[in-house]
Amino acid sequence: MGDLMSTPAHIPVMLSEVLDYLQPQGDMVVIDGTVGLGGHTRAILTKLSPRGQVIGLDRDAETLRCCQALLPSDPRVTLVHASYGDLPSVLEQQAVPGVNGMLLDLGLSSFQLDYPDRGFSFRQDAPLDMRFDQTTGEPVSHWLRRTDEKTIADCLFTYGEERYSKRIARQIKRSPAMETVQDLKEAIRKSTPPAFRHKSFARVFQALRIVVNQELDHLDRFLSFFTDYLLPGGRIVIITYHSLEDRLVKHRFRDAARRELIQLLTKKATIPSDEEIQNNPRARSAKLRAALKMA
Ligand SMILES: C[S@@+](CC[C@H](N)C(=O)[O-])C[C@H]1O[C@@H](n2cnc3c(N)ncnc32)[C@H](O)[C@@H]1O
Repeated sequence: MGDLMSTPAHIPVMLSEVLDYLQPQGDMVVIDGTVGLGGHTRAILTKLSPRGQVIGLDRDAETLRCCQALLPSDPRVTLVHASYGDLPSVLEQQAVPGVNGMLLDLGLSSFQLDYPDRGFSFRQDAPLDMRFDQTTGEPVSHWLRRTDEKTIADCLFTYGEERYSKRIARQIKRSPAMETVQDLKEAIRKSTPPAFRHKSFARVFQALRIVVNQELDHLDRFLSFFTDYLLPGGRIVIITYHSLEDRLVKHRFRDAARRELIQLLTKKATIPSDEEIQNNPRARSAKLRAALKMA
């Protein structure tokens, strides 16, 4: 597990924009669907009354434990180990029929990148796992073992936009072992030119993380039901870090707006300021979209 004391804090992305669009206040009930280390939640809590409420979800039990330890004890916060894709059952368990705000800040946190044993980062050796939730699904190593070369190449191309996808997939299948970060890096090293190779590392790791966590499926599921649980006048904010995620949010939001279920608050995606990107490079690919639930 990551060491809380030595882990640099995860800086919440586009925090002032999130607060502007979400407008948390008074007795509102807000869902933080990707609570992480609670960066956004902490700021939202400062805007709520003593009777307000934040329900924070995360698929990663380790992150949730750290979030619990980091957030000052506050009766207004409920943390739940669940995917935002399963929000309906979480709300049913909490006996909350509708909420005033929803936030998703997708992807992974800097804290998770630093986990020594989960394989999220190509910068340190570890078992090749990359699951957010280690209680379900399969590690990347298993997926690579049972998946054919063409499917792997397609995944690296689609989710990582990796131009050497076919060569890397061939090398992955030829490798004697594919159990660790080093095994995967070696396969990438053998199939890409040295210039910009670290970009291939980043693209391949991102693609495999998206696949084993079925990230687009969870997002798609959430986008198919969120209007049923947002109260009239309620607001939703989604921050994405990948063009496929942003496209999904854009199309689903437009579709809901056409059906007069929501009003778009961002005609075009909002992006972070140059200053924020300078202070927090993780923000550089962020795109924020927001909407208001109609009556
Ligand atoms: C970018 S971080 C969120 C950081 C958080 N906003 C903060 O300020 O501390 C994304 C988090 O979403 C979690 N996550 C990813 N997919 C999820 C899902 N389908 N449901 C719930 N949490 C998810 C990850 O485990 C990670 O902790």
